[in-house]
Amino acid sequence: MSFFITVSIILAAIASGVLFFLLYLFVFYPRAGLNQLLPGIGASGDGFAIKEADGIPYVLSGGLPFPTHFERSNHPISDLTGGWHMRFDPEDRGGTEGWPVTKVPDEGWTPVKIPFTFNNAAGAHTSYDGTVWFHRRFRTSTPGASGSLARLRFDGVLLRSSIWLNGVKLGDREGGYTPFFFDVSDLLDYKADNHLVVRTDNRLTWNSLPPRIWKHHHAGWHTYGGIYRSVCVEFIPDQYIFKAAATSVISGKAANLGLDVLVHNAGERHALTLCCSVYGPDGRRIGTQKKGPLTPKDTISAYRFAFPISHPSLWTPEHPRLYTVRLLLRRKGALQDLSFKTGVRTAAVGNGSILLNGSPVFLKGICKHEDDPVFGSTQNNTIIARDLALIKKLNANYIRLAHYPHCVKELCEARDRGFLLSEEIANYQTGTGFAAWYEEKQGILRFPIRMFGMRQMMNRSFLLNARREIAEMIERDRNNPAIILWSVGNETYTLFKDGGKVYAWLREVVRALDTTRPVTMAELTYNIPFFDNNRGAAASMDVISVNMYCGWYYGSTADIGPHLDRLHRRFPEKPVIVSEFGADAAPGRKEDDGVWKAERVGFGKTYSEEYQARVIRDYYNAARSRPFVAGISPWVFSDFYCTWFPNNPVPFYNLKGITSAKRVPKASFHLLRKLYGIR
Ligand code: GCU
Repeated sequence: MSFFITVSIILAAIASGVLFFLLYLFVFYPRAGLNQLLPGIGASGDGFAIKEADGIPYVLSGGLPFPTHFERSNHPISDLTGGWHMRFDPEDRGGTEGWPVTKVPDEGWTPVKIPFTFNNAAGAHTSYDGTVWFHRRFRTSTPGASGSLARLRFDGVLLRSSIWLNGVKLGDREGGYTPFFFDVSDLLDYKADNHLVVRTDNRLTWNSLPPRIWKHHHAGWHTYGGIYRSVCVEFIPDQYIFKAAATSVISGKAANLGLDVLVHNAGERHALTLCCSVYGPDGRRIGTQKKGPLTPKDTISAYRFAFPISHPSLWTPEHPRLYTVRLLLRRKGALQDLSFKTGVRTAAVGNGSILLNGSPVFLKGICKHEDDPVFGSTQNNTIIARDLALIKKLNANYIRLAHYPHCVKELCEARDRGFLLSEEIANYQTGTGFAAWYEEKQGILRFPIRMFGMRQMMNRSFLLNARREIAEMIERDRNNPAIILWSVGNETYTLFKDGGKVYAWLREVVRALDTTRPVTMAELTYNIPFFDNNRGAAASMDVISVNMYCGWYYGSTADIGPHLDRLHRRFPEKPVIVSEFGADAAPGRKEDDGVWKAERVGFGKTYSEEYQARVIRDYYNAARSRPFVAGISPWVFSDFYCTWFPNNPVPFYNLKGITSAKRVPKASFHLLRKLYGIR
């Protein structure tokens, strides 16, 4: 009798657990009113908004209009890269002890050269998570009339930061992958040293990008911290161009290059004249158009230009021809002279393909992080040139910039070399905390606790931070013709209707700023039909991206084709990119070296270069034999530091690179080079 009672109690417990799970998912699950997102404590609190002027969208961030990336400007700048001092503050005492306001302590600081990340693999503080202070003093000269507005610019500080200038707090910044700005016109001292203090913090939070998805979680790449991109003060006229959006429409043998320009009239409104010139790839002037003199009525004034181009030189991977747009804004006593490069090309989806200039293109790609053993996520010209030269040698035509907006210099260099690009926000594995129970091997009892990870996807502060990162990524890079795809997430919770609802909203955020490019997100697949067939994001995406690890984390490469075919049956009209796949391979390791038993990988794998090459070959063959597959981007260009893999053959390195951390090609690089060279 007691056996029977015991069994029925266990069954009752399991049944109630399942009932709880289903009730939670379908009844109690939080339903955010996404379309009525109100300013929350995320980025849309003070100073962030998406607005319009004369139908042209723009972004207010930190209270200033967010600028387009201009490759050349006549703005005088005080370059603040170079010598700073850094100090670790594990107890986070600096703020309460008044460091940035009253007195920075004399001792405990280390001289560093900015840009800099404090926890690189080759450094002494690799595993540091927490607060690190940076400060420097600088002098600056009085700008002329052309520089009455002083804009302090940070191109990237990981992961969040607080900024003080001359003891005055300028603000807090959540998000490390896009630029941010402060108006310091009334704070700069032109007669004495200025003191700039930055508190950085590389810890993930429930609402950061990337987010923490469970208690001790780190993202799938190293959470570098520090001032890792450039810093400067720009001096600009107080009536200045901040946005220029180029759009090209191709019809037959002709094209039209439209330029929507926005001016911020920050100070007194003087009559201004705006001149826009376009130069062809051969340097010859296509045309010049002038507006004004006009006295703007509003704080933000809009100007539209359109340049018909007969026989345009289209931007293509084979011929990455660029046009130069030059903008001159003249106003009493001030002149702003800006220019940027762009391309005449169109990117769309149609008939189940990705279309470049109206023709189907197959993306022979590779995924890429910003990661270097010595420089961490800081990119410099040498690193960028080294990596892009290798990717060119791969015969690749596409780079999936994972998993966050990369530095703008890399995007421009990739553009000039003819690489197609997708750019992504760090909406990484958000809401999948319940999956962590599996990775943590915490046993079935931990599963219900992990369930609450799914709420994260709907958290308003998180979504507001995601919206800001999308907006700033697009506004910074919109004129780069190499970018053909915006990605709004990677392997997040997308199960059922609610998971899809978030992606319908994220796509609308993209479309509010850019209707000229398709949108995607990269789904993790488990090769478990229940999970794989109940994904809600793909219905809202223009291109379906799937990260598949058949043959590594689960199953075998024989599962690739059937999985892709199932996906195609569900979305017959949508092109599919196999956005991640691969296997770890320790540089030089061979099949004969036998199985290496590390965590997160079932059934034992050899971690050999041959096995990695075989897996990549199988994915390539499966993809190329299916016309609905519009591209592949194996995971990943180079081995990179990651705390997920302490017991890998190279400890703490994700070894799925087709090159080593030092960029030495593996067998898979040579194989892929041949395959991509075929067609
Ligand atoms: C995921 C994730 C990557 C990660 C990879 C891996 O697909 O998108 O960021 O590095 O898995 O486990 O190697």
